[in-house]
Amino acid sequence: MTSEGGSGKPFVVLGVSAGIAAYKAIEVCRRLVDAGVHVAPVLTERATRFVGRATFDALASERVQIGLWDEASPIPHTRLGQSADLVVVAPATVDLLARYAGGFADDLLTTTLVATAAPVLVCPAMHTEMWEHPAVQENLDTLRRRGVTVIPPGDGRLAGGDVGTGRLADPSLIVATVLEMLGRGEAVGAGDLDGVRMVVSAGGTREPIDPVRFITNRSSGKQGHALAAAARRRGAEVVLVTSSALPAAQGVEVDRVETAADMEAAMLHRAEAADVVVMAAAVADFRPKEAGTSKMHKSDGVPDLVLEATPDILAELGRRRRPGQVLVGFAAETEQLSDRARAKLASKGVDLMVANDVSAPAVGFDHDTNEVTIFGADGSMFPVALRTKDAVADAILDRVSALLSPS
Ligand code: C5P
Repeated sequence: MTSEGGSGKPFVVLGVSAGIAAYKAIEVCRRLVDAGVHVAPVLTERATRFVGRATFDALASERVQIGLWDEASPIPHTRLGQSADLVVVAPATVDLLARYAGGFADDLLTTTLVATAAPVLVCPAMHTEMWEHPAVQENLDTLRRRGVTVIPPGDGRLAGGDVGTGRLADPSLIVATVLEMLGRGEAVGAGDLDGVRMVVSAGGTREPIDPVRFITNRSSGKQGHALAAAARRRGAEVVLVTSSALPAAQGVEVDRVETAADMEAAMLHRAEAADVVVMAAAVADFRPKEAGTSKMHKSDGVPDLVLEATPDILAELGRRRRPGQVLVGFAAETEQLSDRARAKLASKGVDLMVANDVSAPAVGFDHDTNEVTIFGADGSMFPVALRTKDAVADAILDRVSALLSPS
């Protein structure tokens, strides 16, 4: 880790772009300095219309920089980019995300982002309509693929009196995440799932017809991967058993599988030592009874595919579970959501059943957002309104956490 002037302090560039939430970046700055971090603020030109540079100048570890020509050095972005142990952008506006995802380097902040090899954390804040725009979500996907960490916005009151998703994440969460990424997570106390051993399954299984063809479903694995990432962030030791090609979050152990049979073997084995098991995977219900060992050819005519049922992994996990182990299932439905979810909760012997109406817009398979209802074996019911899959993951883990340590 680099340190500022040999002081031993981690060096963080705090990028601030032009949104109403820019005032909250002052709180982020102050808390990071209090936590022993060297903070170098970089504002975009337009951010100065929302928040004064004098405040940052007074609170940060060095003077605010805005343009490429503020420093004696003609290459401040290189100094900032190379010195940084981490760059955090809070708030990150639509425009900033687009410029960063597009590789633009037209001001000091974007130039620093392109010039750094340090980990980057972006904290978007914007109106709900803007947050839900495909351009914004695609830019975030691009950034995530490149290894950028995203703290999605929360729900609540927005500028102009509107209410919805888009509020900048709480400064305490941003600071905790920065410290965690710097390896100083213990400085802000343990996560609520600290040391909890969790196994999460994700993705749609692939059931071979022959060596080149398979039966599968529309599951992307995004919700399961988001659950694994959120659990890790909150301190759990996570194993992700996945059939999805999506990347897994740092610190998550990954077990890649393909078929329901592979997933069954991996889950039953991994669950033995787990405190919490979450079956977010969309396991195929049927598979070809016999897969061809060589490619089937058109010239041989249309084959009669004989299907058989796959094992119900969740039901088996329910039968085998140890006392105290928390078991969570998912129910993707297109009608009679609560009746079906409650029936599955009982028949599979789980503590929580997360139900989503996959026929609703922006919900379920392959979307980045989800809307679910969490049913509890104790008769409880928690609706979780439309939000990112990351935020849904946290809502599910809040319920898991409550079951692990009942108040
Ligand atoms: O019965 P249904 O497929 O709707 O149940 C969904 C839940 O059961 C999910 O948690 C899914 O991961 C799990 N499941 C399973 N094995 C199957 C089918 C579903 O574990 N063969």
